[in-house]
Amino acid sequence: MKTGFLCLLLFCSGLVDGNPLNSKRGVDIVLDCFYVSEAGGRLGGFTSSFTREPATLVLRNVSMTDDPSLEGFTDYKPNLEEEEQMVFEVLVSTVEIPEAESILHADCNGQEVICEVSQYFLQKEEGPESDAPPSQANWFISSLQIAGGGISVTMVMKNMATESSGTPQKHKKLGVPITNSGTILTSAEFNVYTHTPSIFTPLGRNVTMDCKFTGVPGLSGVAVEWRLQHQGSGRRIFQYRDAQGIPDRLGAWMDVDSVESQWDATLTVSDFQVQDEGTYICTVSSGGFHAQQTLQVMVMESPRVKLTPNTLVWGNNLPTKVTCEMAHYYPLDVTVEWLLEAPGANSEPTTLSNVYFSSHRQNKDGTFNITSYIWISPVADHLGTTYTCQVTHASLSKPIRASLTVKAPEPSGSWMIWGISLSTCIFIAAAFTMMCS
Ligand SMILES: *[C@@H]1O[C@H](CO)[C@@H](O)[C@H](O)[C@H]1NC(C)=O
Ligand SMILES: *[C@@H]1O[C@H](CO)[C@@H](O)[C@H](O)[C@H]1NC(C)=O
Ligand SMILES: *[C@@H]1O[C@H](CO)[C@@H](O)[C@H](O)[C@H]1NC(C)=O
Repeated sequence: MKTGFLCLLLFCSGLVDGNPLNSKRGVDIVLDCFYVSEAGGRLGGFTSSFTREPATLVLRNVSMTDDPSLEGFTDYKPNLEEEEQMVFEVLVSTVEIPEAESILHADCNGQEVICEVSQYFLQKEEGPESDAPPSQANWFISSLQIAGGGISVTMVMKNMATESSGTPQKHKKLGVPITNSGTILTSAEFNVYTHTPSIFTPLGRNVTMDCKFTGVPGLSGVAVEWRLQHQGSGRRIFQYRDAQGIPDRLGAWMDVDSVESQWDATLTVSDFQVQDEGTYICTVSSGGFHAQQTLQVMVMESPRVKLTPNTLVWGNNLPTKVTCEMAHYYPLDVTVEWLLEAPGANSEPTTLSNVYFSSHRQNKDGTFNITSYIWISPVADHLGTTYTCQVTHASLSKPIRASLTVKAPEPSGSWMIWGISLSTCIFIAAAFTMMCS
């Protein structure tokens, strides 16, 4: 594992993009992984707990664009001394690993690659020929995901050692055949992957959910099912089988012609609403393979912030209610702060504590409104004081601020008239200048 990390450091330190030939070379990608299994074994009916043991996943000889920085890259060498180790070697020559380069780069950029391997149960193929149960222990499934977004890949792996003759050694824990160096040699057979594992969308958009797959040549009988899971209930959104697409949600569509020609099962949900949000599961089946990707799709609507009144004139000592209305936001959590800034002072703004709130109200489209208010008495020494309503919400990269400043009363109406006359003069002068030039 440590060797792999060193290689990655070398790779990071010298990233240069300069090979004119664009030639390819094979690279071993070494990932820290967990082997996940049911704790109670499979004997006693229901088991609800899982054990996670450290494992290593080595993607062997992944084809990449050559680069001078790959010079320092050494091939992975298994450590023969550790008997208990779980090292899965994956040959990726027949089935390409999508975005292997971004998986390698993610490690470089300090992003974690979440990796899990578990046993896989090949689905029994329909038909009279396939009554014999498939040999279960010879298949694994792994899930690779770049933490914080990026690519997510589910990979079905077949143990290669079973195909060799003779009596191979068995792995101590898993009981599956191992290579002479103690590793579990597998080949990638089927991948389902997405570039959009989490999506944030405003309401009313057409949301495109990426789901693609790759498999051994001659993949046939492809079926796709898209389901939505939300707060304990699930429903089907779209179904593809026998080259036909059936939408269960109105306005959900898939480019049916691309499914088997491009291995693309991407779904678009049009006019996305609050009730469409949740976990989307894209399940692709073909032959005995059956693998899925999950995508989190969440609605994000920024609050529209309005401060009333928007000017305040000192003079009448009656307390005035200043309201800050936040409308049409989603999800529900929103933070409001009222700040007071004295005029011209270099002092920090103070946060007001006597702040009131209405309860939130829900609009027909599922978005929320809330109102926050304060009472201020615009007495003379408040002249020039600025009050700010500062709103923080998950949809905003920085808070929205709405401010009002306490003004001196207008001495009379004449200033306004003068102002208008002056601007009219400027306008006429400008018009003349343009006509003369
Ligand atoms: C790695 O893959 C390349 C083709 O991409 C092949 O020519 C080469 O022999 C492979 N190396 C090993 C060690 O399997
Ligand atoms: C969404 O897609 C439909 C076609 O399915 C199209 O008519 C509509 O204009 C699209 N809406 C947006 C907001 O892109
Ligand atoms: C939310 O605020 C908007 C804008 O002020 C308003 O049009 C709408 O009626 C409000 N909705 C509710 C449920 O009060």
